[in-house]
Amino acid sequence: MEDPNVDTWWRHGVLYQIYVRSFRDANGDGIGDLEGVIERLDHLSWLGVDGVWLSPITRSPNLDWGYDVSDFRDVDPDLGDLTTLDRLIAEAGARGIRVVLDLVPNHTSDRHPWFVESRSSTTSPMRDRYVWAAGRADGVPPNNWRSVFGGSAWTLDERTGEYYLHNFLDEQPDLNWWNDDVRDEFEDIIRFWFDRGVAGFRIDVAHGLVKDRHLRDNPPTTEDDPGPIRRQGQRHVYSMNRPETHEILRSWRAISDATSPRRVLIGETWVFDLDALARYHGAAGDQLHLCFNFPFAFADLDASQLREIVSATELALPTDAQPAWMASNHDLGRFPTRWCDGREPAIRCALLILLTLRGTPFLYYGDEIGMTEVEVPEDRIRDTVGRRASAAEGRDRCRTPMPWTSDDGAGFSTGDAEPWLPVGDAEGRDVASQRDDPGSMLRLTRDLITLRHASDDLRAGAYDPIEALPGVWAWRRGDATTVAVNLTDRPASVDVRAGSVEISTDRAMDGAVIDGALELGAWHGVVVRAT
Ligand code: GLC
Ligand code: CA
Repeated sequence: MEDPNVDTWWRHGVLYQIYVRSFRDANGDGIGDLEGVIERLDHLSWLGVDGVWLSPITRSPNLDWGYDVSDFRDVDPDLGDLTTLDRLIAEAGARGIRVVLDLVPNHTSDRHPWFVESRSSTTSPMRDRYVWAAGRADGVPPNNWRSVFGGSAWTLDERTGEYYLHNFLDEQPDLNWWNDDVRDEFEDIIRFWFDRGVAGFRIDVAHGLVKDRHLRDNPPTTEDDPGPIRRQGQRHVYSMNRPETHEILRSWRAISDATSPRRVLIGETWVFDLDALARYHGAAGDQLHLCFNFPFAFADLDASQLREIVSATELALPTDAQPAWMASNHDLGRFPTRWCDGREPAIRCALLILLTLRGTPFLYYGDEIGMTEVEVPEDRIRDTVGRRASAAEGRDRCRTPMPWTSDDGAGFSTGDAEPWLPVGDAEGRDVASQRDDPGSMLRLTRDLITLRHASDDLRAGAYDPIEALPGVWAWRRGDATTVAVNLTDRPASVDVRAGSVEISTDRAMDGAVIDGALELGAWHGVVVRAT
């Protein structure tokens, strides 16, 4: 029997993504670490989060900051060691916080011993663990697949004269998921971390694992494709998104369902078709528990766009599936900048939306204080992808150290070493300055999380959009709760049932009694409970 408190905590919980290198540096070397996360668990527990997802902590040459793994069963020495992780899991657990790790099954580092062995000869016992193919002709790669980071997805390996596939950096060779040893290794890796008490995984590139057996050419994009797909120049029909990937996800779900308590699987499902997204949950609910909704994250902070995506998601997902909402992460950027251009009333509206929709909200470290992106000077760029593409596409600006205090260095590090990325000028957007101010964004975030935990409607109630003026988005949750948010520069009124305001983004209306017409200011949102 499923126990809702331990097995499905992620349904009523709030998750929080920690980019470990930038959260808190406990040993003063300028790099955030696991010990630093332990030091800041009290903040997370005070905030009320139920689980943290740690960006990759496994060993890595760090060309893609942990997403190029050289050992799937050990902690990167920059970040700590297995013993510290065990302590982190225990200390977090004592505060009711689960620890979710990042699993990177699509590719490894080119320094991973499997790849080193695989590339040594065409007859290597590990040759088939990666995707190798002969060129079409001299100097012509096996097919037209393009890397997500630009250029051909194939690199010629001089030693054996064959090409290997990499959907990301050249130094990130793709694993061959048709190979049984690869499947067995990952089942073992998953069990290894589950045995250490990890509460689940966020699965990197969950939609991309299996490649077309015949390596057919990808079709070009068309005018009708959404912007993020068009920018890649081709549809990843054969290089990713293959139906056979679902089989693998199903097998991992079976492993996670057989553990006690059950573990959660969260997918980086980078798809823009909501029916495709639904398939990652599985019609029988037998694949991923939570699938990130990229159409939502890539939309504008615009009432009609968001409303349409949320309604379409509600329709597309199988019954009982739980949506997952996020608006910032280590790739996309931070919503206080992307969506709100730093404007506080808009940031407050976005926090209210994320924390009151039906589904599991994910906050990215710093979202709770309205942290904006930091301009990273050319000579401090650490993201190779940024360096290769253009500074504008670089992801460092959303990976800078968490501002804990208003001091120089922002309380990020215990030492004097220069932080691995610049701290930036937080301008009052730091934890210490906001913690004791009842009107702050941090207190708004915390109060919304508290309200969510206390309200059956917000945790589990259905989502029903209600009629509203253009630019206003309003919906009912469950029996008695209404959320309304005005995403325009003009005041607006919404018809709601009589009740009282539980939380207002400007806090001035908290507790106000409403007898039908709710008057919203510009960039203002409220949660109303009917009486
Ligand atoms: C995912 C990660 C991203 C990484 C890529 C390759 O998209 O979120 O940071 O660069 O996979 O591993
Ligand atoms: Ca450190």
